[in-house]
Order: sequence, then structure tokens, then C-alpha cells
Amino acid sequence: MKILAIESSCDETAAAVVEDGRRILSNVVSTQAAIHARFGGVVPEIASRHHLENIVPVVSKAMEDAGLDFPALDAVAVTYAPGLIGSLLVGVQAAKGIAFVHGKPLVPVHHIAGHIQAPFLASPEEIPLPALALVVSGGHTHLFEMPEPGVYHLRGRTRDDAAGEAFDKVAKLLGLGYPGGPAIDRLAQGANDRAVDFTPARFKDGRPDFSFSGLKTAVLHHVRRQGIEPVADQGAVPSEVRDLAASFQRAVVVALLQRLRQEAERARPRSLLLTGGVAANTVLRREAAATAALLGLPLFVPPIALSTDNAAMIGAAGFVAYTRGTRAGWDLNPEAHMPLETLVYEAKSTPGRGAV
Ligand code: KG4
Ligand code: ZN
Repeated sequence: MKILAIESSCDETAAAVVEDGRRILSNVVSTQAAIHARFGGVVPEIASRHHLENIVPVVSKAMEDAGLDFPALDAVAVTYAPGLIGSLLVGVQAAKGIAFVHGKPLVPVHHIAGHIQAPFLASPEEIPLPALALVVSGGHTHLFEMPEPGVYHLRGRTRDDAAGEAFDKVAKLLGLGYPGGPAIDRLAQGANDRAVDFTPARFKDGRPDFSFSGLKTAVLHHVRRQGIEPVADQGAVPSEVRDLAASFQRAVVVALLQRLRQEAERARPRSLLLTGGVAANTVLRREAAATAALLGLPLFVPPIALSTDNAAMIGAAGFVAYTRGTRAGWDLNPEAHMPLETLVYEAKSTPGRGAV
């Protein structure tokens, strides 16, 4: 079964064709990162305008790369929540148009469900379920338990900033550009990650939740105290900035993996998944492997191109949703926010809050 998937929730216009939720026939991503870089973050109005310009060429390229015409498709899947509303709208309208004209079912996909499904695209072996998934991106930091494909139980979440957001804000503060994650990752290599000691956030209720805004403020205080100036020349970053970046990165990685371990010890899953844009982080990938080994669990991490936003993961989650009977009506509307307490794909003609 061949699904055309469309993703436009943030600043990547993406389309892919995925067969049976596993085999990628094409995967096209047009990123706007360079356009938003000069603003130090994504500007929603600019993002939606670029999605409008890019969506037709990106979908056409995905179909061409897959060597298919629209009639050969079995369904069209699209990210409809959560994300920037103007950006989501472009993908949803394009998907509706293609599905309507060619008489194909329209499958609504939650962006995070896409991230969780990404490791399944890349793994040649079966991933044992239940799985515990750590989803870390610019907009999300969540721990989900997945007892079966398409059923996601939220176990932990950030109470303020997402991990990627913290990377981006700290990078901006230090003058390292946007997106911040890759810049910090690169600069931290070989730097002293013990130079600054950051205290991890703790919660009285003991839940495996996350908090990164205190860490961001601690970095800010350190910068002010030490009189650190934003970096002017990216080719000559002072060692105190590199050490600070490395110490911040270490604090994020430790916080993420502490909660992953805590929840794994409680829930006793059969596998661990690490996914989302921040899963591209070199130290997180390495340390997550060590945590998994300690727990005696297999860890599945998608390659970087499938960790960051892409449409292949939406095709994979779309297949799961489709096989569970989920369809959208022509009145499908994007949602900027979608509660994620318990996300269970089930048969619905039009998705509403709480049921996708
Ligand atoms: O999943 P994604 O592409 O988009 C969202 O759904 O948000 O994630 C983007 C986020 C950005 O915050 C970016 O700084 C972060 O992922 N990121 C990284 C790395 N590569 C991307 N963070 C840390 N280390 C990286 N190597
Ligand atoms: Zn994402």
C-alpha cells in the first residue's frame, strides 16, 4: 500500500511516498532554515508563504522520485497537528486537493506520532513492543509508552521549554546562530563539558517530567556574571563559550536520560526509541546507547535525516492510522495545539480533540 505523505508543520516543506509504512520510495525535504536564520528563529508568516511556494514542486518531486502517478497511490496522509497554523494549513489544503481530485482516502497524522514512527522506517528488524519513546524536538519533549502501533500513552513531558527550544535559545544568547542544536553540538566537541555545573530540575511529585527554562536562565546568569559577549566570528569561538555550550548540552542530555531511565525501570518496556530533531545530537545518541545497555534494552534511533522533520515519518504513521481505520473528512482543519494525554488512533470520519 503506497501512501503520499505531506508535512509542513514548521519550517520544512516535505513530501514522501512510503510503502506499507516501512519502505521509503521517495523523501523530499525543502528546508527554510537559512531564510529564518537571520531572524534567530522561525517567523510564522514567512514560513507559511514559503510553504505555499514550495508545496507543489516538493510533492511533484516526491512523486517523480517514487516513479508514480497520483492514481497509483492508495492514500494521502498529512500532518494536521500540532504546529504553526498557517504552515499546517498549506499542507492540509494540498493533501485535501490531491486526495479529493484522485478519489483517495485522506489520513490525518499527528506530528509527534510521525516522530515516534520514524525508527520503524529505519529498522531492518522488528522493534519489540511495548516501546518507550523519548521524543525530543524544537517543539516537544515527551516520553510515550507505545503498547501497540498507533497507541501512545503520555508518561512524561516538559513543563516549560522543549529541549530543542532550549538549544536554540542558548545558541541565540551566545550568538551561535539558528538552528542552535547543530551549532552547539559541533562546538561542544572536544570542549570541557564539566566547566560549568548546572543543577538538574527536580519535581516534588517525582513524575518523569522535564524542565529546561531554569537551565536556560542559569546559562544567562553565567553569561552576565562572566561578561561573555555574543560570538561575532563563528570561525573563532572562544573556549569559554565552547565549554559553556558543552556544559549546557551535558545538562540537557543528563536530564533527558535520567527520566528515560526512571520511566523504563518503572514501565519495563521491551525497547527504547529516541527520535525528533534533538535525537540528531551526537552526545545524546552516544549516551542513550549507554543507558540502553545499562537497562539491557535494545535502542532504536533513526538516522539524522529521519530524526529531524520529514514526511517519510508521516507516511509511516499514516500507514498505522490507515490500518486502524482513521480517515479525515473534507472538512479536516489543522490544529495548532493538540492535547496529547492519550493519543489513540481510532476510526473517525473527522478527527476531533483527543481522538485522532
Ligand atoms: O524535529 P525537528 O526537526 O522540528 C520540530 O518538530 O521541532 O527539531 C528541530 C530541533 C531544533 O530545535 C534544533 O536545534 C534541534 O532540533 N536539533 C538539535 C540537533 N539537530 C537539530 N539539537 C541538538 N543537537 C543537534 N545535533
Ligand atoms: Zn518535529
